[in-house]
Amino acid sequence: MSLLAHRGRRIRGKEIFRRMVRETNLSVSNLIYPMFSAFGAGIKKEVTSMPGIYQQSIEHIVAEAREVQRLGIPAVILFGIPATKDAVGSDAYAEHGIIQETIRAIKREVPGLAVITDVCLCEYTDHGHCGIIRDGDVDNDATVELLAREALSHAQAGADMVAPSDMMDGRVGAIRNILDTNGFAHIPIMSYAVKYASGYYGPFREAAESTPQFGDRRSYQMDPANRLEALREAQADIDEGADIIMVKPGLPYLDILRDLRNEFALPLAVYNVSGEYSMIKAAAANDWIDEERVVMETMLGFRRAGADLIITYHAKDVARWLQR
Ligand code: PBG
Ligand code: ZN
Repeated sequence: MSLLAHRGRRIRGKEIFRRMVRETNLSVSNLIYPMFSAFGAGIKKEVTSMPGIYQQSIEHIVAEAREVQRLGIPAVILFGIPATKDAVGSDAYAEHGIIQETIRAIKREVPGLAVITDVCLCEYTDHGHCGIIRDGDVDNDATVELLAREALSHAQAGADMVAPSDMMDGRVGAIRNILDTNGFAHIPIMSYAVKYASGYYGPFREAAESTPQFGDRRSYQMDPANRLEALREAQADIDEGADIIMVKPGLPYLDILRDLRNEFALPLAVYNVSGEYSMIKAAAANDWIDEERVVMETMLGFRRAGADLIITYHAKDVARWLQR
């Protein structure tokens, strides 16, 4: 028997020791559950590419919101599928738009659940882009004005937090300003600060019916090849008043998450996006992987990389698994 000073297996040899020296933990308090609210009544339609995730009308959203709260998940993030779409995304900032009515219903029926809203135009424009079009591209400054109106209308309907996902320049500052000057200085902004132009959003675009009808989002979402740009984007949003910064997608960008964790002292969120979810669900449905094990390992990976909050379609399952 050789004399080894370092035997890593000594401390790994018993579950009780492994538990005592575990460096990272995961709690239900870290989770945010995304939901898709559809205009109409009696609607509950499963998204083909996202088993277990539904487009649903308000009464079903409220029922699921109750379940989410019972599971101990603190917050949901809402996306809307409006009755009609137009060139300027009017429903996004309408007083009685789909999201505004959904916020009111959840806050009335499940007041203890935090309601976060996605602030963007792509779910509401007939062309599917995240802003209004001028000369074949999204017009930044004109879009920012509408995003600010959208965020204000969410706050007026009772949203607890707003989350701009559009990637226009200056939108966090504009939203902070309109909230502050209208009595909503207490409403935090979780900014999609670092959002890459990603193929992993494919299933979401089916869920939100928000596929761009021409071109792609590369003139506003980030190039997946860039790392330093993430620091610039995060810094800009922090300077404009973001309270929480987000990295999106999750798994292919864990290095970026760690960069931001090391650089900034703000709460950090990660979006475990639709394509990441669909891949695990598809592999699990084929019995190629153990779903619980792979999902929990994925969540731990986000936490280890530095995320405080994880936006994930797996949230309800994770909450149940954590209770065992
Ligand atoms: C809207 C938005 C998107 C997602 C969140 N907000 C789609 C996109 O930018 O194309 C993606 C979420 C997911 O894939 O789960 N801007
Ligand atoms: Zn968008």
